[in-house]
Amino acid sequence: MLSSIGSALLVGISVVAAQTTPTDIVGTWSSKSNKTLTGPKFYDPVNEKLTEPNRPGISYSFSADGFFEEAYYRAVANPNDPKCPAAIMQWQHGSFTKQANGSLTLAPIAVDGRQLYSDPCAYDEAVYTRYNQSEMFQRYEVLTDPYHNIPRLNLYQFDGSPMMPLYLVMSPPEMLPTSTLNPLTTATAGGAKATSKFKRSAEGFTLPMNHKVLGKRHEPIAADRIWWFGVFLTGSGALLYYFF
Ligand SMILES: *[C@@H]1O[C@H](CO)[C@@H](O)[C@H](O)[C@H]1NC(C)=O
Ligand SMILES: *[C@@H]1O[C@H](CO)[C@@H](O)[C@H](O)[C@H]1NC(C)=O
Ligand SMILES: *[C@@H]1O[C@H](CO)[C@@H](O)[C@H](O)[C@H]1NC(C)=O
Repeated sequence: MLSSIGSALLVGISVVAAQTTPTDIVGTWSSKSNKTLTGPKFYDPVNEKLTEPNRPGISYSFSADGFFEEAYYRAVANPNDPKCPAAIMQWQHGSFTKQANGSLTLAPIAVDGRQLYSDPCAYDEAVYTRYNQSEMFQRYEVLTDPYHNIPRLNLYQFDGSPMMPLYLVMSPPEMLPTSTLNPLTTATAGGAKATSKFKRSAEGFTLPMNHKVLGKRHEPIAADRIWWFGVFLTGSGALLYYFF
């Protein structure tokens, strides 16, 4: 009897201890270019607009109360025409937890994420859709970068491979409001109107691809800029890290 209470207590304690909000990771982190950053300059939810940073890169922000935000601006290989790389911008936010085994799990707010895909050789306008991708990092470490003498965050992907190093830009972090920005899900079968200006599409959460429907056109990202970035992407991993 006593031992079963004891083990029940132990289970309870281990559940509590399993998920924590670490403090060492709090702040806004950016890859070396330091131009792609989370916050309102990257994604403007009121005007529904993603703004292309000066340089490609990635950024993560983590708050002390367990919220994250991420901004990605990258070139992607174009399967149709390898000489004409496309560019992608992705933004999402949500909550994060550190698991007992050291892994970091990011749970985005599904209706809020946004993606802008620009393939200037194939489309006149960039393609703007929702983006929702849960993430798991096997582990992370925060250390002082020996060359730059600033805090550095190393994130290891689910398979243990390292991401490009991220450097501390500011703390506390620069983030948009951490609550749901696009309350699309308030629409109910009972007839309540969605408070978002976006309609739910047949696929679920994909935004209309015609930007005129959104009342906001996204011009394609200039092809020469993407090409410039694409050149570096074809280099070695070390080169990629260096130029980021
Ligand atoms: C990165 O840019 C921010 C301003 O956007 C600046 O405050 C910070 O010092 C920069 N960090 C590095 C490492 O250059
Ligand atoms: C760590 O724990 C999480 C949550 O229980 C699990 O999803 C993940 O696979 C674990 N990671 C490793 C490397 O075992
Ligand atoms: C968002 O993505 C997660 C997995 O990454 C999935 O489980 C969830 O159903 C998705 N939500 C929506 C609304 O698409």
